[in-house]
Amino acid sequence: MSIDSGNKGWNQEFQDFIHALKQKNDIVEVIRSYVALDRKGGNYWACCPFHHEKTPSFAVNEAEQFYHCFGCGVSGDVMKFVREIESTDFMGAVRILANRAKMDIPETNYDSEKAMLAKKKRDALAAIMLESARFYLGNLYSGDSRADAHLQYIAKRGLAPTTVKKFGLGASLDFYSLPKHLIQKGFSKEDIIDSGVAAADKTGKLIDSQGGRLIFPIINAFDEVVAFGGRLLEKSDFAKYKNTRETMLFNKSKTLYNINLLKKLKREQAIKEVIIVEGYMDTISLYLAGFKNVVASMGTSLTKEQARLVKRYSDTILISYDGDFAGQKADLRGLEILKSESLNVRVVPMPEGLDPDDVAKQGKDAYQKCLDAAMPLIDYKIHALQRKYDVTKTEEKRRFVAEALQVVKEADSESVKEELLKRLRDITGITYHALERDLQNLPKAAQMETDLPKEKLSETAAGTDKWKKALRFILAAKLFSAPYSKDFDVMDLPLADETHIVVAQYIAEREKNQERIRPSELFEVLDENCEELNEILDLNYGEKLSGEIAERFFLDSVKTLQRDKIEREIAECNEQYAKATEESERKKIAQKLAELIRKRNQLKK
Ligand code: UTP
Ligand code: MN
Repeated sequence: MSIDSGNKGWNQEFQDFIHALKQKNDIVEVIRSYVALDRKGGNYWACCPFHHEKTPSFAVNEAEQFYHCFGCGVSGDVMKFVREIESTDFMGAVRILANRAKMDIPETNYDSEKAMLAKKKRDALAAIMLESARFYLGNLYSGDSRADAHLQYIAKRGLAPTTVKKFGLGASLDFYSLPKHLIQKGFSKEDIIDSGVAAADKTGKLIDSQGGRLIFPIINAFDEVVAFGGRLLEKSDFAKYKNTRETMLFNKSKTLYNINLLKKLKREQAIKEVIIVEGYMDTISLYLAGFKNVVASMGTSLTKEQARLVKRYSDTILISYDGDFAGQKADLRGLEILKSESLNVRVVPMPEGLDPDDVAKQGKDAYQKCLDAAMPLIDYKIHALQRKYDVTKTEEKRRFVAEALQVVKEADSESVKEELLKRLRDITGITYHALERDLQNLPKAAQMETDLPKEKLSETAAGTDKWKKALRFILAAKLFSAPYSKDFDVMDLPLADETHIVVAQYIAEREKNQERIRPSELFEVLDENCEELNEILDLNYGEKLSGEIAERFFLDSVKTLQRDKIEREIAECNEQYAKATEESERKKIAQKLAELIRKRNQLKK
């Protein structure tokens, strides 16, 4: 995986052009044209343009040509900065920077025809989505009497025309006019089908996938319409909502409704927490009630990708699902995912049978009350069980206790366990002592089921965590040319993480060619939001990489990793030895083993 060929399929001419483009657009100058920069220490500082703040924590490093915000964690090179600040894509940023430097963009960007076609396709689909959104919105106010039902529905749900515009709501009036309009606009039938807005029937005629529905455009963080959610106006046997099928632009498990407005909000004010609701209408109602920090998971339980997406905006999440989700195990499992992404999760209790939309309609205060009652996940689980069982009935009380004790067992700390046991005591009237003993005597099988995987996970997580930290430090020291790291060869590292491999290969290649290491070049091969890369780059700030302590930490990390690597090799050798049948082979392995043991002893010294 060479760095020079791992570049998204551009041809040499385009690579050279991008290189020159970056040199002509000094990051300090470019950023200065958007925000005022102050020179302090080795860096330039500003209030971050990507999140609201009053004291500057946005740093621009001139030597390495990249920026980093200590407040919200964003970082990148000049290309990424322009993409983010202008909410545009890569080529959009190229055009802006080329214009700035008065450079001509080469006609053919792509080496492989495939990469070029993929890009063209994506652009075509995005254009179709945008045109469709405009068409649907236009329908609503066209005076066409078929839109009356939609308008009435919108009014019934209390949405003003300004809201309709803000969220880009629209109306599909029939099954044929959208595809017809798109064809007239010059889009190909194939692209229309691939965009998901229409499908061909048996005779090949194109049919609007949202025929007749009220339309909610789903817009990504770059302000592109990627899909539509369509609601039926009346009850029927068909699904109430229908989303555009998954396409090149739309992957439901990686998308959150309203992420576009959340991104805008972050620039205007600090986002303390993000509220996650289930539906389109929940989102809109909360937004209108003044809770603009809201996104929707669109019905499904949360995915890892969605968790990572919100993490860019805040690390505190308020789950605000419908009142009846308590019993749904799948949803609670979705919440475990958030926890595993080290997000701080609280659950907002809803009155039975109501959703956030219903509560917000009662007024801002009504919903604020729910928010104020938000509780940690573990408390919520007990709360949910309390709703499920009537503890005044003996049999139900028994089941409540059994299930609640399972929840208590999950608690991370003894103090939380104690607190929860006290609550169970108050709820059931059973003595603390008896509950505590029951907790200890939980059936072994059940215990294994809930505990074993968890323990294993945290054990390995702790192991890899320490490893990861050591690896990050070593890579950062090499990337930023810390003097003490000079003689260390990164290819000696026991690498497993994909990001680490790419970074190490980049360093090795530059060193081999005796070229300067420029950390920002990594953004050409790794995703700009790659968290692991950003963790590594973060180490470059403050005094973290310089001084005696840093040097000692570096040597220590190297030793730990090398020792670990050798231990593994020794274990492997032992295994091979046990399996080997031929004398000559055994001898070879024994020699290798002796060598490894000698190395290990040396490291111990
Ligand atoms: P809900 O059934 O809670 O609907 O689904 P809602 O948001 O309260 O809708 P209204 O108030 O009746 O209009 C929550 C979300 O789940 C997805 C949609 O994203 C919806 O907003 N969903 C629901 C579907 O994708 N398909 C369905 O059939 C139902
Ligand atoms: Mn609803």
